This record gives sequence, C-alpha cells and structure tokens, in this order.
Amino acid sequence: MFTDAESFLNQSDLVIFIHFIFVFVFLQASDLIITPATTFKEKPDPSGLVFGTVFTDNMLTIEWSLASGWEKPCIKPLENLSLHPASSSLHYAIELFEGMKAYRGVDGKIRLFRPTLNMDRMARSARRATLPCFDQNELLECIRKLVEVEKEWVPYSTAASLYIRPTLIGTEPSLGVKKPTKALLYVILSPVGPYFASGSFNPISLWADPKYVRAWKGGTGDCKLGGNYGSSIYAQQEALELGCQQVLWLYGEDHQITEVGTMNLFLYWINEDGENELATPPLDGIILPGVTRQSILDLARSWGEFKVSERYITMSDLRAALEENRVKEMFGAGTACVVCPISKILYKGKHLHIPTMENGPQLTTRFLNKLSDIQYGREDSDWAVLVS
Ligand SMILES: *Cc1c(COP(=O)(O)O)cnc(C)c1O
Ligand SMILES: *[C@@H]1O[C@H](CO)[C@@H](O)[C@H](O)[C@H]1NC(C)=O
Repeated sequence: MFTDAESFLNQSDLVIFIHFIFVFVFLQASDLIITPATTFKEKPDPSGLVFGTVFTDNMLTIEWSLASGWEKPCIKPLENLSLHPASSSLHYAIELFEGMKAYRGVDGKIRLFRPTLNMDRMARSARRATLPCFDQNELLECIRKLVEVEKEWVPYSTAASLYIRPTLIGTEPSLGVKKPTKALLYVILSPVGPYFASGSFNPISLWADPKYVRAWKGGTGDCKLGGNYGSSIYAQQEALELGCQQVLWLYGEDHQITEVGTMNLFLYWINEDGENELATPPLDGIILPGVTRQSILDLARSWGEFKVSERYITMSDLRAALEENRVKEMFGAGTACVVCPISKILYKGKHLHIPTMENGPQLTTRFLNKLSDIQYGREDSDWAVLVS
C-alpha cells in the first residue's frame, strides 16, 4: 500500500509534471530567446553574389532530445556548431533541409511564399529520417521572427531575395545505426541575387544518361534529405565534363524523365492525342514535391486554357514529339530560379534541340511573371504571407 507521501504523483508533482510537458517538450515560438548580434557584417550588393556564400548576422537554433523534447528556441549571432565527431548526421546523413525565400515587395513589405508547404514537407522529411517531429506553425513563427530581426538583409530589389535554409540534423553522439536521441534544428539566412543576369532568360543544356539514378521507388527522393544531394554531384560533374550544365534524371527501363538537377520538370507540348498539354511527372515517390511545381499546376488549372497533367513522359515520347514538331517549351521549376528554360538534351550521344526559346518562351515567362508578381507584392494573393 502507498501512503499519501509515497504515492507516485502527489498534487505538486503533478503540477511540475504538467509544467514540464508544456514548457519543454513542445516547440513554442512564445519561448523564443532573442539575443541578437551587436556587431554587423557589411551587406553585399546582391547582384554579384554567388549562391549561399554570404550569411546574415543571426541564426535560429532549437535543440531536441528524447529525454526532454524541444528546448527553448534561440535567435542569436551566427556561430560555428560544436558537434561530437560521432554525430549521426556526419556518419549516416541523418539530416534534412528546406529551401524558401523572403522577398521585399514593391510596397516595402516582406513576404514569404506558401511557407506552410515548406513546413509540411520538412515534417515529412523529418519522419522519413527518424528525426523529431515539431509543431509546424510554431517553427514558421520562429522563422518569421528571425527574418524580422534580419529584415535589413532582405535585398531592396525585386530581382533578389533572402534565401532561408531550415536544417535538422541528428546529433546522437554514438556510432550505432539507429534513430537519434538528440537533434538540432537551425535556420540560417543568405541573401541571393538574380538567377538570370540582366533579366534575360539563359536556357540550360542537360545530360540524360540512365547509368545514374537520383531516386527510386521506396527510397528517399521525395524528401529533402542531404544524402540525396551528396550522391548526385558525381553525375553533375560528368554532365559538366560533357559540356552540359545539369543532369536530366531518368528512371526505369523506359527512361522516364523525372527531374532536372534539383528542379522539377515541365513539358508544354501537343500530346499524343493532339491536345495542348502541360505535363509533369506524378508524385509517385521518386519526385520531390516542389512548392513551385505545385504552384505552377495550381495556376495552370485555374486558367483552364489547356490540359494540365501529372503523367509519365519517356525519352521516346519526347523524341517522337520533337520529330513531329509537337514540343513547345520545356523548363525546370524550383525556388532558386522559379522557372528555368531548357534548350538542349544530350542523350545517347545525340544533341536534341528543344525549341523552348524559339517559342517565346511564352508559357515559361507567364509563370515567371505571375509567381514573381505574387512574391514581390505586385499582385495580392493568399499565397504570400507577410513577415512585416
Ligand atoms: C527543392 C527541390 C525541388 C524544388 O522544390 P521547390 O519547393 O519548388 O523549391 C525540386 N526537385 C528537387 C530534387 C529538390 O530538391
Ligand atoms: C568557424 O569555422 C570557420 C571554418 O571552419 C573558421 O574559418 C572560423 O574561424 C570559425 N569561427 C570561429 C569564431 O571559430
């Protein structure tokens, strides 16, 4: 029999226990501890920036452990991490990242673009990587605060933006291949310049060879896990050696077209049935569900001017269409460039010319203008979320 004093939870223990759960276990933006930098780096001219080389003065960090859940989030001066050399992110790539941007609009206000889609994707990546889950709205609120603290770093330009890199890494200090009991979530910010210099589209050339595979059924290609990208660079180097700029990733015996570099892929063409169609591969597990991809599909469906399909496209479908003059435009889509026209594909030793530029590129330009109008506040849309 327990006496009252021995009972495993008396009333004050219960209060402490409940306090513990609510204060330390869940990620909460209202717990933010903000101790911003007091010395400031010089802000560079965004037009001359190499992607991801300059970082702002502050970062957001949130530690997690299985024993106590999420600690209080901190916004503090950007600093080097101190990690145990056995950390599971370093050995087994137990890590994920996100990529989004803050834009300074024509009205001076700062906006994020559909950031809840990034938070959803980040949560899915975390689950797949056995990293801890978190409250997506609370994390977004922490990110919003970080951007607010760093608002002077959001370029005063409608051709530049502030790139936001949320990252979640396993910090388990042991070599066992297992779900980590410690993790670190952090967010760093980097001003980025225009993707296309002087406002003119520079089309890219691609190398397509089935000998390298980016993602496979049952794998992790539909999550933004670091391991997917580290293992892609070898193929990217070979593309460069062959005089192409990026890899067109193929899949399967029938050489399905999947993605281009780290972008989703779109083909605007007259399909086999003679219909005008905008096509992109379906989210069947090997395609990264891009926010730009989703937005292009949503816009095109709302216009209702042509068929919009998530469907398979093989290299032989594309070759037949090129021979029959049915290809209008082909482009990559992602946060970095919004859309990126494709002009050439090297496949089986032959250069296939894609007539994207000869066709305007009309549709590619229309998507670029529409999405940047929303991002830079030239057009009202609930896809744009105000930071300040
Ligand atoms: C990030 C990424 C994309 C583009 O996603 P967005 O959310 O539009 O930036 C496409 N493909 C791959 C492989 C990616 O990593
Ligand atoms: C942080 O790391 C970089 C690169 O490893 C190093 O050059 C720099 O001096 C470090 N900064 C501090 C404050 O230790």
